[in-house]
Amino acid sequence: MDWHGAVVVITGGAGFLGSALARALVGQGARVTVIDAFLPETGANAANLEGLDVRVVRADLRHDPLEDALAGADAIVHLAAQTSHMGSQADPRGDLAQNADATLRLILAARASAPDARVIHASTRQLYGRPRALPVAEDHPVDPPDANAVSKWAAEQYWLLEHKVHGRPVVSLRLTNCYGPGLRVKDHRQTFLGLWVRRVLEGEPFEVWGGDQTRDLAYADDVAEAFLAAAGAPPGVYNLGGSPPVSLRDLAEALVAANGGGRYVVKEFPPERARIDIGSYVADDSRFRAATGWAPKIPLDEGLHRTLDWFRPRLDRYL
Ligand SMILES: NC(=O)c1ccc[n+]([C@@H]2O[C@H](COP(=O)([O-])OP(=O)(O)OC[C@H]3O[C@@H](n4cnc5c(N)ncnc54)[C@H](O)[C@@H]3O)[C@@H](O)[C@H]2O)c1
Repeated sequence: MDWHGAVVVITGGAGFLGSALARALVGQGARVTVIDAFLPETGANAANLEGLDVRVVRADLRHDPLEDALAGADAIVHLAAQTSHMGSQADPRGDLAQNADATLRLILAARASAPDARVIHASTRQLYGRPRALPVAEDHPVDPPDANAVSKWAAEQYWLLEHKVHGRPVVSLRLTNCYGPGLRVKDHRQTFLGLWVRRVLEGEPFEVWGGDQTRDLAYADDVAEAFLAAAGAPPGVYNLGGSPPVSLRDLAEALVAANGGGRYVVKEFPPERARIDIGSYVADDSRFRAATGWAPKIPLDEGLHRTLDWFRPRLDRYL
């Protein structure tokens, strides 16, 4: 898709991945509207959008009118969500409202005022639960391990219905763990890696739970490129992976090396987390790569360097 002059609405655009996407789209000459409620328990941060020429609409998908913000959109990228797994277990109804019901409100508003917009939806590998084998392709059974995976699956399926029933082009990207500038680092609500980044920058030890689990981390700019590429893919569901798999222990070593120093302690998984942990994950994203030509460009070591360099001068604004 030629993004120059395209009108693109990003829900959750003040968050970690949404703001990376906003940067990429502005760079391509798109006219970007961000819809975001700036919810404090998420990765929302005004600093994420600083200096970017985007229209910001402060609205909550759960209850504010959305039609005006969506009017005339060529594409809608839906990232707004509740992403905390433990948070979803503590408040499953809140999680359902924020992920499923809010998505339905967005869908109905889009029917009214952006009937021709293509949609790219941010889904998650969490839907698969504990993988039965690695790597995980799209035909792996969906087996949600927590309430968040249930609500995120519902959101994805509502969008896919829009394609099946109403013919709207919809691509859903089931993302692996992502990292990079703009990550929520004040705690481990968004991801364990955020808190690791904070601790290592503060010169404090961070905790590695377990250590042998593998992850295929995706750098934010690569994920933003994937969202752009997704607009040209045939409608449907695609996995999105990242770097070659790395154990959490090796990831901890890589982070310390990228920082030029740091300490960590390996601990048993806290029991309440162990109950919803998915073990090791690696995506088979060959379908997406074949459909779009996308491939990650930023190796893990470089991504960690860039992330630390980006946070170092502005850490206080993220605490
Ligand atoms: N970050 C990852 O590693 C990862 C992995 C898999 C899937 N995802 C998916 O990618 C998307 C973006 O994740 P992120 O890490 O950037 O999260 P984030 O918390 O940084 O950003 C989410 C943004 O959505 C906004 N938001 C949430 N609910 C809203 C509502 N009801 N109305 C308006 N705005 C609302 C928040 O204010 C925040 O700015 C999510 O859908 C998430 O499930 C992320």
